[in-house]
Amino acid sequence: MDVNQRKQLLEQEFYRRFGCSPVLWVQAPGRVDLMGSHTDYNQGYVLTMAIDRTTWLAARPRDDRQVVIYSLNLEGGGPFSLDRITPDTQSPWTNYIRGVAAVFAAAGYPLRGFDGLIHSTIPFGSGLSSSAAVEVAAAQVFTLLNGGLDIPPVQMARLCQQAENEFVGVNSGILDQYSSLMGREGHALLLDCRHLTHQTIPLPEGVQVVICDTRAKRELTGSEYGERRAQCEAGAAQLGVSALRDLPVETFYRREAELPDILARRCRFIVEENQRVLDLADAFTRGDLAAIDRLTAASFIGARHLYQIVSPEMEAMMQAMRTGPGVIGARQAGAGFGGCMVAFVHRDATADFAAHVQSVYHRATGVMPGVYPAQAAAGAGRLVLEAENV
Ligand code: GLA
Repeated sequence: MDVNQRKQLLEQEFYRRFGCSPVLWVQAPGRVDLMGSHTDYNQGYVLTMAIDRTTWLAARPRDDRQVVIYSLNLEGGGPFSLDRITPDTQSPWTNYIRGVAAVFAAAGYPLRGFDGLIHSTIPFGSGLSSSAAVEVAAAQVFTLLNGGLDIPPVQMARLCQQAENEFVGVNSGILDQYSSLMGREGHALLLDCRHLTHQTIPLPEGVQVVICDTRAKRELTGSEYGERRAQCEAGAAQLGVSALRDLPVETFYRREAELPDILARRCRFIVEENQRVLDLADAFTRGDLAAIDRLTAASFIGARHLYQIVSPEMEAMMQAMRTGPGVIGARQAGAGFGGCMVAFVHRDATADFAAHVQSVYHRATGVMPGVYPAQAAAGAGRLVLEAENV
């Protein structure tokens, strides 16, 4: 579906549901992490990229205090009042919008009701931040409907993260919301999760990022994510630092014997992964493809043995990606436990690589994977479409 067809679809459906046309369009991209699994909540680094798969939200302000929200991808939705924002168990996806409204209100920002319709091209529940994109899109709408509330993007990322942590109840880091807001076309972001700053890093010439979806669902609210986070925090506390970010690799190696085995393994992964983020950013800058191979392979081995976030489907996918034509390197992405993974591929070989991954993974698991070559995209904002009548 091209941009115009997508717009037409949303416009028609908006009219069908609300009897009028939208006057405001916003978009928010998904993201893929190129290096840095679980480093964000350890105040470390991530090499991340906003992708050309997006959530669109078409809206029209209302004169009352209701938000009426539907999605073209998901069932349910309906109205909620800005004066009494409660979680929705019938259509849990609306909690991403309710949560943003709740944190904006708590922070003292004025809110205006709206009719809204969502359409997303980000696969759901597969680790590409489809939920953060909904939060960020909602934040854009609330901001723009109030004559452009002046919320700096870092603050907006924090508010959206807060919505996810406090309202939805997932104790995730800042990575997803930050990436969706700050993405830059053609570039990765070297994100510093302590200082909430980033450097843009151009993607190496001729290298295609290919997202490979195991189609094995993961559920972040499950206990594993919270457990890993608690283990990292316990390890940092035992080593007397405020976050694992504060431990250079060599310092950690000297002291890891002070930790119980399981904490040592978790912390070792984070400390090494943090360094790999910096090394991969450096490899991108130098166009060092051998380093991409080495670093992504080490990241996956650590994810498997130390952090233990690798599922059997991910093993099968790794096998399929590593043997693909034109592959430069491959690793896990997102939280792990299934979901999407990421490969770096010589651009000319992308189609052959995709066909190989599909057939090898399908043969091994009986499941047809999703293979999405991804471009680095700009962060969230108002969508200015041709012939837009705003
Ligand atoms: C999920 C979380 C992020 C981050 C990643 C793992 O995507 O939402 O905050 O922790 O997992 O790197």
